[in-house]
Amino acid sequence: YGTQSVDEHGQLTIGGTSAVTLAKTYGTPLFVYDTALIKERARAFVQTFERAGVQAQVAYASKAFSSIAMYQLAADEGLSLDVVSGGELFTAIRAGYPVERIHFHGNNKSDEELIFALDSAIGCIVVDNFHEIEQLKRLTKYKKVNINILLRVTPGIEAHTHDYITTGQADSKFGFDLHNGQADQAFQSVKDDSYISLLGMHCHIGSQIFDTAAFSLAAKKLIVKMLDWKTKSGFICSVLNLGGGFGIRYTEEDKPLKPEIYVEDMIKSIQLEIGQENYPMPEIWIEPGRSLVGDAGITLYKIGSQKEVPGLTNYLAVDGGMSDNIRPALYQAKYDAAVANKMNFDSTTTYTVAGKCCESGDKLIEKISLPKVEAGDTLAIFCTGAYGYSMASNYNRLPRPAVIFVEQGQHRIVIKRETYEDLVRLDCSLQGENMGMQ
Ligand code: LLP
Repeated sequence: YGTQSVDEHGQLTIGGTSAVTLAKTYGTPLFVYDTALIKERARAFVQTFERAGVQAQVAYASKAFSSIAMYQLAADEGLSLDVVSGGELFTAIRAGYPVERIHFHGNNKSDEELIFALDSAIGCIVVDNFHEIEQLKRLTKYKKVNINILLRVTPGIEAHTHDYITTGQADSKFGFDLHNGQADQAFQSVKDDSYISLLGMHCHIGSQIFDTAAFSLAAKKLIVKMLDWKTKSGFICSVLNLGGGFGIRYTEEDKPLKPEIYVEDMIKSIQLEIGQENYPMPEIWIEPGRSLVGDAGITLYKIGSQKEVPGLTNYLAVDGGMSDNIRPALYQAKYDAAVANKMNFDSTTTYTVAGKCCESGDKLIEKISLPKVEAGDTLAIFCTGAYGYSMASNYNRLPRPAVIFVEQGQHRIVIKRETYEDLVRLDCSLQGENMGMQ
């Protein structure tokens, strides 16, 4: 992947630096992001729209990996930003993100979060439900501020990898149903509001999607609704946001398309539907998360204990686990790995990679063929850049790992490793004077 290679010592290099050196310098577990790859992916999305001459915003879905440095990188690449909580918004603002390019998502935004968004004058709020419409009407009127919104709709398509299912009505906690009148009711409720400017519609149909058909179908369904609103009310949608979900290659079994192909096909199908009806081409917005940062991230671990269950399994244990990567335990997600200091050794042994958490299910990879390992070896697990650190926890009071960026032989820390002191920082003792304190 990306700028990974093997040096003359048979060691894995990432962005021009030996993984073993990085592990020694920063400790393990360590998240390493190859920023050249993030930029390459970002540019592929952005430039495909530019080449097609289509107005667009590529918004980084920052739930995949959120940090000040990542936000600064995304801003430099000209990306817009999708945030889903006051915490992500706070981080983005602290990073100096251009507020007009921030879009705020979520199915249960609090008044405090909406006030924060309005006070920060962010670019757009993606409105999810009727409660939120009432909140926004009340808050914008009180504050006398305008806000751009999209209405999030559920088109009844659920896509995952190669398959998608379409249903008249999706059983989803997100958005206004497109087919049972909810979307129309939401539209009626906001279209003439004096403080709320409706820009258009949003949908997100799933994650880790490998083909373009589901996106085309979603676009088609939304455009039918856009045409309907134009006919009935003369309203023209200026933005059509088709969400994220573009797949990446975790293991050899995964066969995703290039960013360019997803975007080109999306543009084609929208132009086709719109062109037939003489509707002005809306801006197209997308929200890739995983496909911008997923395969740019690698986790380095130190191998410790081993256990053989004769005839069944060779366990090797690493110094992290489900606390820094919940995805195998939560979604049966598959990963590929290599022993970073033994890249030229033959793979002779089948291992199951276990974590150090007190749970039998804490396994990062089941049955992978690797060179024979010993304590102290460095294990690199690939493609951990999306929903790894961002879903990390302090389970078993394990400190969260450090995160570094590498590029062209340079490396820098972007999130420090947690310390034991950090772990107890918010704890309140039963001894002392803190009774009733908040
Ligand atoms: N836009 C919306 C409204 C979303 O809900 C999501 C992801 C995205 C964009 C970005 O999707 P992506 O391009 O990253 O697939 N934790 C799970 C993934 C949850 C995705 C939630 N929404 C995992 O680790 O696979």
